[in-house]
Amino acid sequence: MIRICFVCLGNICRSPTAEGVMRHLVTERGLSAHFHIESAGTGGWHVGDHADPRSRAAARRRGFLLAGLAQQFARGDFERFDYVLAADGENRKSLLALAPDETARRKVHRLREFDAASRDAGDLDVPDPYYGGDEGFERVLDVCEAACLGLLEHLATEL
Ligand code: 4NP
Repeated sequence: MIRICFVCLGNICRSPTAEGVMRHLVTERGLSAHFHIESAGTGGWHVGDHADPRSRAAARRRGFLLAGLAQQFARGDFERFDYVLAADGENRKSLLALAPDETARRKVHRLREFDAASRDAGDLDVPDPYYGGDEGFERVLDVCEAACLGLLEHLATEL
């Protein structure tokens, strides 16, 4: 069982999108039993909220279901996951500051590190769509689909 948590700032836009995409990919390949997938925020403002309606609508149009409620990532959560995947560099910094030890710090990666094209372009942040228009939510989906495919390819070698 590989345990994954996607982490952004509020856990209502980017990380629930990545969670929904990853769950879809894993289910499609018949690998659900091998993965535990969650998402969380480094901040606590939206704890208990559904994903942003704009994220849910954009995801639904592509066949992804965003069904979870927001939670805040806590220090103790590092023990519950093997991979803690930050949406951007700020989220990564917050997670590294929260990590209790080197074992926990080694679990932190940026999601887009698993997408070869993003690595080549040196563009490793999932852009925050919260204060922008609908195109931002489509962009988050594009980025999450590419990165989750790369992530699954990487993790499949561990199974
Ligand atoms: P997320 O987007 O980190 O992708 O969930 C945000 C959601 C809420 C806020 C910021 C970003 N906020 O400031 O409330």
